[in-house]
Amino acid sequence: MKIAIVGTGYVGLVTGTCFAEMGTDVYCVDIDQKKIENLKNGIIPIFEPGLDEMVERNYKAGRLHFTTDLSSILNDVNIVFSAVGTPPDEDGSADLKYVLDVARTVGKNLNKYMVIVTKSTVPVGTARLVKKAIQEELDKRGKSDIKFDVASNPEFLKEGAAITDFMQPDRVVVGVESEEAKLLMEKLYKPFTLNNYRIIYTDIPSAEMTKYAANAMLATRISFMNDIANLCEIVGADVNMVRKGIGADARIGSKFLYAGCGYGGSCFPKDVKALIKTAKNLGHDMQILEAVERVNDKQKHILFDKLMKYYNGDIKGKTIAVWGLAFKPKTDDMREAPSLVLIDQIIKAGGKVRAYDPVAMNEAQHHLGDSIIYAKDIYDATLDADAILMVTEWNEFRLPTWEVIKKTMNRPVVFDGRNIYNKQEMEENGFDYFGIGIQ
Ligand SMILES: NC(=O)c1ccc[n+]([C@@H]2O[C@H](COP(=O)([O-])OP(=O)(O)OC[C@H]3O[C@@H](n4cnc5c(N)ncnc54)[C@H](O)[C@@H]3O)[C@@H](O)[C@H]2O)c1
Repeated sequence: MKIAIVGTGYVGLVTGTCFAEMGTDVYCVDIDQKKIENLKNGIIPIFEPGLDEMVERNYKAGRLHFTTDLSSILNDVNIVFSAVGTPPDEDGSADLKYVLDVARTVGKNLNKYMVIVTKSTVPVGTARLVKKAIQEELDKRGKSDIKFDVASNPEFLKEGAAITDFMQPDRVVVGVESEEAKLLMEKLYKPFTLNNYRIIYTDIPSAEMTKYAANAMLATRISFMNDIANLCEIVGADVNMVRKGIGADARIGSKFLYAGCGYGGSCFPKDVKALIKTAKNLGHDMQILEAVERVNDKQKHILFDKLMKYYNGDIKGKTIAVWGLAFKPKTDDMREAPSLVLIDQIIKAGGKVRAYDPVAMNEAQHHLGDSIIYAKDIYDATLDADAILMVTEWNEFRLPTWEVIKKTMNRPVVFDGRNIYNKQEMEENGFDYFGIGIQ
């Protein structure tokens, strides 16, 4: 089987590489010439554990190809996946420009039956628009009789664990509207079902909706726990104990119950926004999700608020160490990262930032330029610092040598945005310590 994956970003590159790993012949297509040239030379555009060696292995084996020209390979494949970006429009809705560009390129070049699958996260009804765009182009060419199907196969992988998520998924959701498309998708995913992973076939709108509902639910759990954490501080409870207490309930489960300094990344913020907007356009208010967003916006300011309170509202000239810049560990993705909001606030308040992240330093330069000092490790970040703000819970931040850090700092105080340290131990080490939702 030969397939094309259009859009060689996080999702497209991981998807293409994993299908190739399972023996499929895969063309990864992108309009970004430099990205494609780099990939041909073994340069991977993103940090994702295990991805580089998998790309290299499959590229050398001749199962993974990189190209900028979809039209030249289109009629050589059975399935085209669209995995291009769907960034938020100015009004919060998903911008479908790239998805529809791909559909039109397909329509302009299609000469035989094929399934066009949307893997990008798109609002309900997008498959219908994709179908219409392809059909219009076929009609223009006088090729209206060429048959094709559209399908929806949203992606649930997590950055940082993308390969495991793709190779051993909890479930694969496939929305189809014809038996022929279903058979092709079954064939493609067969190597995965051999391991008993669940494939759930649905109609197309339900598949499109499932992705948004999943991300909205996860974002809701995070904001819910952050709201509870903030109340814990007021009433004198400890959110870590509360988390364990409720997570032990099998109906609730223990995942995604960690309080922190807000969610970020390329998915939750934009998908929550897009779902709110889709609903609004149809005359429905997503009241819970509107609150989820509000809580998260506030939560991204929480470390700064605690810092300002500690210094009586004045951090002018103070050096603030920021540990972790990526929106979460094991990725260099900085899109909508809480660190960006925090750093902006510190700088505006007259503070200086010394920051360190194990993998996102290059990416951070694109967002922050020379507005901060880039440290070479956490110890270097704390040099002459008046506070440490722990923003991203990388494993290597979990057990630092506090005696060394204390000696290099101006004032030993830690604001732990992910609750990874123990207050009592920190105080025994001579630090003032503030977590989220604890006393
Ligand atoms: N990043 C994630 O963790 C994740 C997880 C699940 C779903 N998604 C969804 O998957 C989609 C892609 O996300 P991403 O993070 O991989 O995006 P990305 O920005 O990393 O990659 C998108 C790629 O598409 C390319 N592109 C744009 N227009 C093109 C065209 N006409 N032809 C060929 N290539 C084109 C861009 O150059 C870019 O390389 C989004 O809808 C996102 O919401 C992302």
